[in-house]
This record gives sequence, structure tokens and C-alpha cells, in this order.
Amino acid sequence: MIHHMLTRDANDESAEMTVNTRTAADALHNSTKHGTGPAQPDRLVRYRRLDPDNAPDSFKRYRDLPIWPLPRTLVSSNPPAVSVLSGNRGDTAPFDSSLLGTLLHLAAGITRTTVAPGCRPTFFRAAMSAGNLQPIEVYIVAGPAIDGIAAGVHHFAPYEFGLTLLRRGDYRPALSVTAPVALILTGVAWRTTWKYGERGWRHLYWDAGTMLANLVAAADAHGLDTEVLAGFDDAAVSRLIGVDGVDEAPVAVVALGSGSDVGQPPRVNLEQLSYDVDPVAPHPVRLPLFVEAQMGSALNRGDVGRWRQAANQVSSAAPARTTPPQEAPSEPIEAVILRRGSTRAMRHDSIATDAFRWSLAAATRAVPLDAAPRGTLLEHFINIHAVDNVRPGAYRWEGGDLHLIAATVSPRDAGALLCLNQPLGGNSAYTAFHHAHLNPILDALGSRGYRAAQLEAGIVSGRLALCAFAIGLGATGLTFFDDPVTDYFHTTSSPMLATAVGVSQTPPAPSGTPGDPVTLKRYDEPMTQVSINLQRSCPAG
Ligand SMILES: Cc1cc2nc3c(=O)[nH]c(=O)nc-3n(C[C@H](O)[C@H](O)[C@H](O)COP(=O)(O)O)c2cc1C
Repeated sequence: MIHHMLTRDANDESAEMTVNTRTAADALHNSTKHGTGPAQPDRLVRYRRLDPDNAPDSFKRYRDLPIWPLPRTLVSSNPPAVSVLSGNRGDTAPFDSSLLGTLLHLAAGITRTTVAPGCRPTFFRAAMSAGNLQPIEVYIVAGPAIDGIAAGVHHFAPYEFGLTLLRRGDYRPALSVTAPVALILTGVAWRTTWKYGERGWRHLYWDAGTMLANLVAAADAHGLDTEVLAGFDDAAVSRLIGVDGVDEAPVAVVALGSGSDVGQPPRVNLEQLSYDVDPVAPHPVRLPLFVEAQMGSALNRGDVGRWRQAANQVSSAAPARTTPPQEAPSEPIEAVILRRGSTRAMRHDSIATDAFRWSLAAATRAVPLDAAPRGTLLEHFINIHAVDNVRPGAYRWEGGDLHLIAATVSPRDAGALLCLNQPLGGNSAYTAFHHAHLNPILDALGSRGYRAAQLEAGIVSGRLALCAFAIGLGATGLTFFDDPVTDYFHTTSSPMLATAVGVSQTPPAPSGTPGDPVTLKRYDEPMTQVSINLQRSCPAG
């Protein structure tokens, strides 16, 4: 446990009791495994899954504050997406309101909408999100150097495509960030627990991770540094943006642009924010394990530095770069991000060995994450169904190569079964399972290590989807049966997330520009085909 491993100085003002033991994450993880008993404790009397009368709103809205529009023209990047996804950078662009708007749109913007008869409109975003529930909000802490943006704390309104100013002034010191901008990603609990119950806690970190995959790729294309911080003072960050830290809680902080300094933040006195916000739903329900997991993984100001140091012991080396595929398309990353949309049906076609190897090598590169200073917290297992010159079966991906575990008799059946009996898990050319050895991670990093591992899984899954789309394939994140996946790959590590990659049956849907999403017609049919846990009448993903 973190407080056993780290020496504390009794005179240090930061020697407040840490709450970050592994207990809360263990409880959440073990009781939210699919295929291992009920995930929902009976004590939740008022909780009814997918209650249409208590559905969450898609957006956070401040009642009395204006939304200042962002420039709607996307700034183009130069390098080919395959180069960026391989770990290379574009030339550094001037960081102004247009570039900030571009990055926000490519990470969290609305690209498509759909209306099914009798249902509320659905809003699809640039990054994938389980059930398309989109629980992540984005805040911007801007310094004075961004042309067209006031120094201050802002909230991003993706639908209106603008910013709401919450505090005026330079608050980056409160985050100990010297980069021109910091982003704070928060998770709105009810937006995911409404459907996924206590397992929704995992979803916050997955969905933040897929957004970060887009953000980091877009920032790389414009030559901007990014540092994703999974370790921060939860209470201070919550106070800065005026959220309660439970129903809406910070999940990641990102230093954006050169000059990030992640030392211990000075104490900054912050007035309490008290803005009127529309409620997320008529009666959002707080789920006990979820709340315990969030509170029991909190860090205080003095914990952060030591927590990051402890990450050295559990992260493993991963290469920063790989070689882009030959004869790959030259389109920039923004085209790939805007084209991406989770593939809803795949053909059984085989894919080229080079395409397979590149996408895995690129997706599993080192992540710019404080919890993974040596590169990664994860390892990856692959169920191969149809890759040229590779025998179908269960493999481990390690050191940039495949290692056969077992030549399964019916890998497609196994792939579908492991992914909660979803055909996509077996119809793909391959399905990748992103794993973590939870025991050492939780011993060294407490429950906060669990957050970090889930976040990295979301980043890798998001990256893998971008890699697939960059070379003309399709992809989707998938959920899975926990322990059966561990057993199938003969490992002791735990699956964090799965990604299916293959040949799409249909071309990607068109996608809109900031403030002008494309309306999709007849989206309800493919969604119904792939739907699971059908207690719903409207397609939710
Ligand atoms: C963490 C995660 C888990 C997902 N799980 C599934 C799944 O089990 N089955 C499925 O069909 N799609 C799954 N998806 C894809 C979402 O349904 C999809 O991202 C969402 O509907 C939004 O659509 P889009 O990706 O086309 O923007 C998942 C996505 C994420 C990020």
C-alpha cells in the first residue's frame, strides 16, 4: 500500500493521512466483473438501470453564464496521420484560440447526431465512449499567452462550440503547470452509472482515455508537448473548477504545450464557485462502491510527488516510436479522427501482416502519462482471427512481436464469447485485450494506480482505433468477461479493456465540423444489431 511504501516526514505539512490504499479499487474491481456474480449490491433500492425517466442529460449547462464562441475553422496539420501515430511530431504551431478550438473539437467535439423515433437526439463525439454516454467534461485553465482566450478557468461547451468563463486570471500555478494551457477532464458519474451501475467507475477512465488518445495525437501533429497527469490533488482541482469531487470528479489533468512543470503546486487560495448548473437528471443516484472508489483513490497535495516516484517501480519500458507503414495514406490526423466511428459490423476478410503489426506497435507505444514514467503500465494479448500469414489463435504481444499462447480451435467463437457474446469480438480480424498486473500496481500506487491503468487502457484503445482508421480498417472498443479473458490467455493479469480491429462492412459515416455535426439517418438499425443488455428502447451503444 502506498503509505507503507513511501516514507513520510512528520514535519512535512503534507503528512496528512492519505486515503489511497488499494482497498477501494479491489472492492470495485472484484464486484464489477462481468461473468462473476452480480455486480449490483441489493442495497441500492432506488436504483433502476436505464430508467428512461431518470436519463442523464448529455451536456453540462451553466444557467446564467454566457458561452463565448470559439473559432469554427479547424487548423490543418501537416504530417501524415500514420507518422503522428508512429510517434513523430509536426512543426510547432502558434498556440491561439483557433488551435485550442481545433484540439478541443478533435478530442471532445460533436461530429454526428442522430434522431431515432420517440427518442431524444443522440450526440456522437470525436472520441469513442461506451454506450455513447459521454460522461467526460473538459475545462481549460489558460495562461495569458493564448491569443484570443482570456487567462482564466473555462468550461468547454461542445454543442455550442464555445467556452464559459468560470474564473478570470492565471490559475495554472494551482495545478503547478507552466505550460500555456492545462486541461482538466472530469467524469460526471450519473451519465455512465445510469446504464453501467458501479462498473461505470471504470468507464470514466476508459472514456477519458479515448479522448486523450485523440488529444495527444492532434497535439503531436501540431508540435505541442502533452503530459497527462493521473496524479493530482483531487480536492484542489475540484475546487478550482467548482465541482463536488463525487458526482462530478476530476479524472485527469493535461499540461498542453511546452514548458510543463509537474512539481508540487503552491497553495492557492480559491474562492468557492457557486454557479447554477442544470441537474444531470431528475434523481441521480449515488452508488456506494463508485463513491468509495473515487474517494478512496484520492491524493492530497503532499502525496502527488511520492506517488509519481512510486510509479517508476511498476511501469515498464515501451518504445516512444515505431516505423510508419510503407505506402500508407498521407492524410492528416484530423481527417482520421473525424472519419472514425465505431465499426458496427465487420467482414471476415484477412488483413495484411504489416498493417496488423504497425497498428499494434503504434498503439502500444509509450504514453505521456505520469503514472508510466518508463512507458507503460500495461501488457497486451491478441486473439487473432484473420491476419495474413499468422496462424489464428491466442497470442501475447511483447517486445514488438507475437508470442503464441495457444492455437485455439475456434478463435472467432472464443473472441465473440470473451467480449460478452458480441459478434464484433469474433468477426474482427483480431481483438486486442489490454491488461494490467493489478497486484503490483495497487501495492505500489494504491487505488489511484487502478485509475491510471484504466486510463492508459482507454488511451491505447483509442489509439488503436485511430491506427485502424488511418490505414482503412475499422475498429471498436468492446467490453468483456473479466476472469474468462485472464484464463483464456493463461495469464495472471487482468483485462482492462478490449479493442476489435478488422474490415468494416460499411464505409465510415460522414462527420461534421465544429458547431455543424452531420445528422445520421437510420442509425438505430446497426445499433440494435450490436446492442447488448437490452433493457432499453432507444439505441445507446
Ligand atoms: C470503453 C468502451 C467500451 C465499449 N464497449 C462496446 C461494446 O461492448 N460493444 C459495442 O458494440 N461498442 C462498444 N463501444 C463503442 C461505443 O458503443 C461507441 O464508441 C459509441 O456508441 C459512440 O460511437 P462512435 O464510437 O461511433 O462515436 C465501446 C467504446 C468504449 C470507449
